[in-house]
Amino acid sequence: MQTRIGFAGLGLMGGRMARHYLEKGFPLTVWNRTPDRCAPLVAAGATQAKTPRELAERSDVVVACVSDPPAVERLVFAEDGLLAAARPGFTYLETSTISPSMARRVDEALRAKGARMLEAPVTGSKMGAEKGTLILMTGGPRALHDELMPVMMAIGSQAIYCGEMGQGSVVKLIGNGLISFMLAGLCEGLVLAKKAGIPQETVLEVVMASGYQSPYFPFKGAAIARRDWDTHFSIDLLVKDQTLALEEGAVHGVPMPGLAAIREVFQSARARGWGAEDIAAVYKVIESASGID
Ligand SMILES: NC(=O)c1ccc[n+]([C@@H]2O[C@H](COP(=O)([O-])OP(=O)(O)OC[C@H]3O[C@@H](n4cnc5c(N)ncnc54)[C@H](OP(=O)(O)O)[C@@H]3O)[C@@H](O)[C@H]2O)c1
Repeated sequence: MQTRIGFAGLGLMGGRMARHYLEKGFPLTVWNRTPDRCAPLVAAGATQAKTPRELAERSDVVVACVSDPPAVERLVFAEDGLLAAARPGFTYLETSTISPSMARRVDEALRAKGARMLEAPVTGSKMGAEKGTLILMTGGPRALHDELMPVMMAIGSQAIYCGEMGQGSVVKLIGNGLISFMLAGLCEGLVLAKKAGIPQETVLEVVMASGYQSPYFPFKGAAIARRDWDTHFSIDLLVKDQTLALEEGAVHGVPMPGLAAIREVFQSARARGWGAEDIAAVYKVIESASGID
């Protein structure tokens, strides 16, 4: 018998991730807060659940990819949430980027009902979700990580075990802290190049020929050059992750002055009404602060 998958959260990431389960022959049920977003997957063969509780009842493993801790709160703990259908043998795979404390809270509630949980936040963005090449960072029992490999490898190319529940989320927040620095550095550098009369392509050529390189720079650099703010990962969600990282820093007594300052730049982008745009659109904040129209 194939594992029956339930998928909750059909946004930019989840809609693409869920499709792999159908393509790989898993029986799939889907739930999304805005029900209409289920239509393309239902047309491709998935069943639609009316509530997260029904989703859990119909599934052996529920995979979630929703925005943030309040979304997980609604998904799991609401009256019609999936906790109401948690039972021995039921498993929850949490791929949303949330706080480590939220991951632990959900885990405790599920374990109290005999169910199991693995956190597995992902990286790879919209294209990684589309291609099924996400990298997953897991936290929870090592044996459950091993058992869920077929479920994880339907959407990803590698799952790295990070430790106990919550530690996968910490690693994910560290990663998105790095992205924040890389993007802020790229945007400041590209605006400086423009004002100094240096072609931005020249800067990217040097970056990619040298120890400065990361595939991230040509990816976002090309989007900036095209002024293409089509969302792969929204500014709103990166600010959510920066805030979660700063909170985690506070929990552990780690000052994070760099990330705190960079978050303010992204907050400016939200204040300008660009929160739903791609994180590359933060370029416009530096540009406008530099007096470029
Ligand atoms: N985009 C990326 O590159 C990327 C990469 C790695 C990880 N992530 C993480 O993956 C998660 C999803 O990201 P995304 O880019 O797919 O976001 P998205 O396109 O904004 O989708 C968000 C999903 O969460 C649902 N949702 C939001 N608030 C909810 C609530 N209160 N109750 C129930 N459902 C709610 C939305 O439902 P509706 O359709 O009803 O709005 C939608 O299905 C986030 O945790 C994000 O940080 C994103």
